[in-house]
Amino acid sequence: MASLHLPCATTPSSQTRSSSRPVFAKPSHFITHAKRGHRLQVSCAAAENQNDSSSQGKVDRRNMLLGLGGLYGASNLVSAPGASANPINRRSSTSANIVDYRLPPVFQMKTRPSAHRVSPEYIFKYNMAMDRMRRLPKDDPRSFMQQANIHCAYCNGAYDQPGQGTLDLQVHNSWLFFPFHRWYLYFYERILGKLIGDPTFALPFWNWDNPKGMTIPPIFVDPKSALYDEKRNQANLPPAVVDLGMTRNPDPLQVVANNLTIMYNEMIRGNSDVYDFMGQPYREGTPVNPGPGASERGSHTAVHVWVGDPRQPTGEDLGNFYSAGRDPLFYCHHANVDRMWSLWQYFLPSKTVPDKRITDPDFLNAAFLFYDENAQLVRVTVKDCLDNLRMGYDYERIDLPWLDYRPPPQTVAARVTRAGKSASKAETVFPLTLDKIVRVLVPKTKKGKADELLVLENISVDTTKFLKFDVFINDEDDNIAELDKAAYVGTYAQVPHKTANKSATTSIRLKLTDLYDDMDVADDDTVLVTLVPRHQGPGVTIGGIKIIENPTPAPPKPS
Ligand code: C2O
Repeated sequence: MASLHLPCATTPSSQTRSSSRPVFAKPSHFITHAKRGHRLQVSCAAAENQNDSSSQGKVDRRNMLLGLGGLYGASNLVSAPGASANPINRRSSTSANIVDYRLPPVFQMKTRPSAHRVSPEYIFKYNMAMDRMRRLPKDDPRSFMQQANIHCAYCNGAYDQPGQGTLDLQVHNSWLFFPFHRWYLYFYERILGKLIGDPTFALPFWNWDNPKGMTIPPIFVDPKSALYDEKRNQANLPPAVVDLGMTRNPDPLQVVANNLTIMYNEMIRGNSDVYDFMGQPYREGTPVNPGPGASERGSHTAVHVWVGDPRQPTGEDLGNFYSAGRDPLFYCHHANVDRMWSLWQYFLPSKTVPDKRITDPDFLNAAFLFYDENAQLVRVTVKDCLDNLRMGYDYERIDLPWLDYRPPPQTVAARVTRAGKSASKAETVFPLTLDKIVRVLVPKTKKGKADELLVLENISVDTTKFLKFDVFINDEDDNIAELDKAAYVGTYAQVPHKTANKSATTSIRLKLTDLYDDMDVADDDTVLVTLVPRHQGPGVTIGGIKIIENPTPAPPKPS
């Protein structure tokens, strides 16, 4: 591993370093991370024009909307030369002092701990930091309320895209989901560290993907703690097991099995290309919600809604995007979401998704504004957040019990014919409003085990509601509260949020190839698709379902 290259002065920082010698801590955690060290390098090219994009002096009406001392982070749109369309970006602010953010050199790698395993010293420190953040003056952009509002602004259509009529700006349900939240946590963590004079402070992650972490971490449930929030579902406080499938199965052991299946599915089995995991492209002038990635719509959404308080009008705090940031647990939940991104990029075998990078300039150049730990308004780009080690943090290494949690093979031949007798043909039922279980027969592209994707098109949703449905293939058994079986293919779900016209249209793709390995599809040329809503009442309409050939087939397995 090459050493960190530090050719020039770094950005001023109030952090005190105990060592003047830049040492790059060994990235000891994930095995594959060790290989990545050689890519770490700090370039100082950015230092020269650090301020050149500031002070355009234009008053942006959305800044006016939110008021001074409020937050300014929102979009404006600039052209990206050479790009097919434009990245979501911004170029002006009332503060006239936006600095292009440079990642500081990494002196010491921070390790984000699993929230269930932290020491009393850590809890004390984290509490103190949160307490200080809560006590900052209201107009300090680093105060807790202002930090919470950042989420509201980027996530609830508080801003429109300029010149685009009623098109909102929305980082969710698109490829901006992971990058936005990574930067958001990055600055939140640095602010907390600064408040306690500990630049190595690292946020804990809620380890909901591991059975040992499948309750709300105990450090968040003490009413006297600065980490507490009373607006949570009281029925889901510990020892309740988090229900990543929202199946409401009353058996906690079955819920754990469901959770591990969901993780296996959304991290490994269900994705065919990078967008299936990351979310669909979202560019200037395009509508919100182009389509969420598997992790966003799956475990991420479920945790929000599961924690949100049903006593509140719209599931506050975690259960609605506008209020989610008001619960300190949000940042712990999202640390695990971020960890999933990092694991997916650098740890998981690449066999199912051959190329995990997005090289589209509209993605790489998309930019956000945040306040850093010194209350400086900074502009950050997606391309600078693709590698968490370059950003100076890693995650505690914990077992990944879902990694091999492949459902048992379905040995009984799929009896499409028998169950299929009662099912309608796909062509005849769509579009349909999904308010009860629906079974349809969908033609395959080839008979038997083929490399195929199931596509659900024109899913139109009422964005103000919690909506979720699960998809099964050739499922003969009617126990819809059990997901640990080959027949479970995936899910669509959304966290309630506001959009200009309360609706959005999206689509998802679910990979069937590996699932066929676990069930006998004989040489059928049709599969039976079962759609199971987990929400009450109407709210979702599905335009159509089809099976297509996998356009990005994985390389052949080495024999
Ligand atoms: Cu911005 Cu989990 O939401």
